[in-house]
Amino acid sequence: PRIVIIDTDPGIDDAAAIAVMLSEPSVDVRLIASVSGNVGIEHTTNNALKLLTFLKKDVPVAKGAAAPLLRDNRFATNAHGQSGMGGFEFPEPKKELLLEENAVLSEYRILKEAGEKVTILTLGPLTNIALLIQTFPEVKEKIEEIIMMGGSTERGNIGIYGEFNVTIDPEAAKIVFRSGIPITMVGLDIGRKARLTAEDLEELEKSGEAGTMISSLFRSYDGGHVEEGVKMYDPSAAMYLMEPELFETKEAFVDVEISSPLTIGATVVDYDGTLSETKNAAVCVDVDVECFRRRYVERAANIKC
Ligand code: BDR
Ligand code: CA
Repeated sequence: PRIVIIDTDPGIDDAAAIAVMLSEPSVDVRLIASVSGNVGIEHTTNNALKLLTFLKKDVPVAKGAAAPLLRDNRFATNAHGQSGMGGFEFPEPKKELLLEENAVLSEYRILKEAGEKVTILTLGPLTNIALLIQTFPEVKEKIEEIIMMGGSTERGNIGIYGEFNVTIDPEAAKIVFRSGIPITMVGLDIGRKARLTAEDLEELEKSGEAGTMISSLFRSYDGGHVEEGVKMYDPSAAMYLMEPELFETKEAFVDVEISSPLTIGATVVDYDGTLSETKNAAVCVDVDVECFRRRYVERAANIKC
């Protein structure tokens, strides 16, 4: 199986992404690293532990950065609830899964020890990953690819052009895009297109415990307007990792705006070489929505816990 590290800020849609990843046999998730983002680091770490305890999966969790590199935290409790995973009663978390080692050191150790290259799936701000590659640049060679939920090829959510994960820590995102590591960017526009319907949620509820957990989280997500469909941001990046054939990508040069107050965090996506820069990312430009929904619901409905 492919070795994977998940770096995340759970987060309702993070939980929905992680849950399906953990039951994919071709993927070996070695670590869940938390990062401050949707809510503070104590919550995101605890949420990762709660989710794993519920799913009965013994994946180690490492606590990551408590704040962006240069900026103050800005949480998304409006979308994810005060604790970050509102809408479902999770069991008490198994604290034994929490490593003493922090996220950056754990990621470093896993990359160093792995006999093959490792894929990193990022579902939150890129603070840990920027710290990792600035501290231990030699591990870049051990990273097969970073699959990132972040950025947008169109408009943003936390700013007119700024997407949350990139805008919360734009300097970190810039470091990652400039690192030379192969990157696949699964941006906001993909998650906005790939939506679960109210019927999909009902199907999940009928499927059992894990389906009910995911559906309950989504019913309280972002004001709970399920009639419009549930936007699948982090699950799109997870699905890209497992079923890339559902997506269309285009090579581009991507960089991050870090100074303009109006467009801070905007991902500038140059497909055509307008900026005369070397292409550094495969950018998801389309998704087969019907297949995506079917495959996601199938996966989520079959999670055993
Ligand atoms: C991203 O922001 C977070 O609120 C979601 O979990 C997702 O990772 C979407 O902009
Ligand atoms: Ca997230």
